[in-house]
Amino acid sequence: MILITEDVWGDELAALGDRYPVSYRPDLWQDPSKIRQALTGVQALVVRNRTKVDATLIEAGKDLKIIARAGVGLDNIDISSANSNGVAVSAALGVNAVSVAEHTVGLALALAREVIPLDSDTKLGHWNRRAGVELTGKTWGLLGFGATAKSTAHLLRGFGVNILAYDPYAQPMDAELKDLNTALVTAESLFSNADVISIHLPNTANTVKFIDDRAIAAMKDGVFLINVGRGEVIDETALIAALKTGKVAAAGLDVRESEPPILGELETLPNVILTPHIAGITNESQSRIIKYLAADIDRAINGERLNYAVGNVKSFVAQL
Ligand code: 3PG
Repeated sequence: MILITEDVWGDELAALGDRYPVSYRPDLWQDPSKIRQALTGVQALVVRNRTKVDATLIEAGKDLKIIARAGVGLDNIDISSANSNGVAVSAALGVNAVSVAEHTVGLALALAREVIPLDSDTKLGHWNRRAGVELTGKTWGLLGFGATAKSTAHLLRGFGVNILAYDPYAQPMDAELKDLNTALVTAESLFSNADVISIHLPNTANTVKFIDDRAIAAMKDGVFLINVGRGEVIDETALIAALKTGKVAAAGLDVRESEPPILGELETLPNVILTPHIAGITNESQSRIIKYLAADIDRAINGERLNYAVGNVKSFVAQL
């Protein structure tokens, strides 16, 4: 039996249902006690980022063989508890990276040409023609050099930008750095040189509020900031202050400190584009993710090794 506690969709879901009984309960993430009750006889638990898969839940899953994360971020899963209970954890590493990269570049283009505010203004009957900026010739800083950052660098090939990356887990000899024309630098160097910074970091003890007052002060005046990693990485209070002074010219945020966020000042600023954590969600990525997880579910149920078993969250830090 497979239990799915959040929204997932796509053709591949039907294929999974042909092979296993599936209990699809997309609202169950809201009630941990009901999830625990529903775990009897469940061998595979499929979640996104809202189901808190903690030790109590894992221990309640007596028949559980695999927790399959329909995405990449693992902040909601107690991996060490899964490991010590002999439950495999599968994450769809890199499977939604292209979707995230396309959204990242889309946000940058929209910020550079003020697409959203000019659209609203034009629809009000105004005709305010004003200059934006080109991306060509600018410096783009990738915070994190995991799958989504690499995919972004790949898409940027045609843009004629200089690409820098900061990632303490990346290896200077990584062939992809050369292939993607990306220079591995320190955070300080990235902050002081980048015109556009996109964040591809997960939420860990080391990344929480990585972008705070001090980091923003070290950035170029008028930088564009994009977050498609995890909301906890940015201190939103510091960002709001910087957006008001123009230190950060504009920001594109797909992820927030709390999700869904409480309406506040960010929602009132004209130089911010907000999207509801959809960077990785496209029809194509969802279909690929379910296919990927289904293969790992087969392996776990048959006692085989997973394609990419998550055993140590540290080694996974740079992979978002
Ligand atoms: C991810 O971690 O893959 C993305 O942030 C998408 O998360 P989601 O699967 O919970 O939507």
